Amino acid sequence: MAERNPATRAPTDVPTRAGANGPLSGTRFEGAGDEQETSRRVREMFSGIAPRYDLLNHLLSGRLDNVWRRRVARRFAPTLARADSRVLDLCCGTGDLAFALARNGAAQITGADFSHEMLALARSKSAALGKGAAAAIGAIEFVEADALRLPFADSTFDLVTTAFGFRNLANYDEGLKEIRRVLRPGGEIGILEFSEPRGKLFGALYRFYFRRILPTLGGMISGNSAAYSYLPRSVGRFPSPEELAAQMAAAGFDDVQFVRWTGGIVALHTARRA
Ligand SMILES: C[S@@+](CC[C@H](N)C(=O)[O-])C[C@H]1O[C@@H](n2cnc3c(N)ncnc32)[C@H](O)[C@@H]1O
Repeated sequence: MAERNPATRAPTDVPTRAGANGPLSGTRFEGAGDEQETSRRVREMFSGIAPRYDLLNHLLSGRLDNVWRRRVARRFAPTLARADSRVLDLCCGTGDLAFALARNGAAQITGADFSHEMLALARSKSAALGKGAAAAIGAIEFVEADALRLPFADSTFDLVTTAFGFRNLANYDEGLKEIRRVLRPGGEIGILEFSEPRGKLFGALYRFYFRRILPTLGGMISGNSAAYSYLPRSVGRFPSPEELAAQMAAAGFDDVQFVRWTGGIVALHTARRA
C-alpha cells in the first residue's frame, strides 16, 4: 500500500541532507571531472542506449514503468484537464510520460531533453500516435534543452514533471532552481524517481535483481554494460525520499510530499512553487 509522508522537517533535521556542497549534490560519472563533463557523459550514455531504451525499460521493469507514469498523470489530473495549462515534462527521453500526461487531458504539453537521439524517437512516436486512433493525443512539442539551463521564460508552466531523469542531473540544487524559475507561483512539480526499498526481504531480493541481474541483462541487450551498471549506482547515491523532500523545501517549494510505490522501488515527490 502506498505511504504518504508530508516533508515538513526543516533541512537541518535531516542527518545527511543533500546539499549544494555535500556528496549528494548531483549525479557522478566515473572519470568525469566536473559538472559539465558529467552532463556530457550522461547525454552520450542516453543517446547511445536510445534505440533500445523503451524495450529495456518495459522488459526490466515488467512493464511497471508505464503503470507508474499513468499514476503520475492521474495525480495531476486537475491541472492536465485544463486546456490553458502549460506542462513541461523534463528529461522526457522517448516521451512516454509526456504521452501519458497528454492522454489525461487537454493541457499543452512540452517535452524537453538534451539527448538528440532520445528526442528523435519521441517525435517519431508522437507522429505515429497522432495518425491512428490515438489522435486524441494533442501535438506535443519536443525541445532539445539542458534541464540546468532551460530556454523558457520565468513563470511559464503550471506543472513540471520528470520521470527517472532528475537523478541524472549533475547538480540537483541547480535543477530545482531552474524548475522553480520556469514554474508560475503556485505551479506544481512532480519528480518520479527510483528509490531503495526498505523492507528487509523485499529489499534484499530487489537489490540482488537491481545490482546483479538488471546490469547483466541490460548490458547484453543494449550492448552498453556501462549504462546499466550506472543505473543501480546512481540510484544508490541518489538522496533518500526524505532527503530529496528536504532539498525541495529548501529550494523554495511548499507542500512537499512524497509517496512510495511498489514497495518503495520508486517514489513520487510533489510540491508547489511558493
Ligand atoms: C532514464 S531517462 C528517462 C526518460 C523518460 N522521462 C522516461 O520516463 O522514460 C533520463 C533522461 O534524462 C535526460 N537527461 C539527463 N540529464 C539531463 C539534462 N541535464 N537535461 C536534459 N535532459 C537530461 C537523458 O537524456 C534521458 O533521456
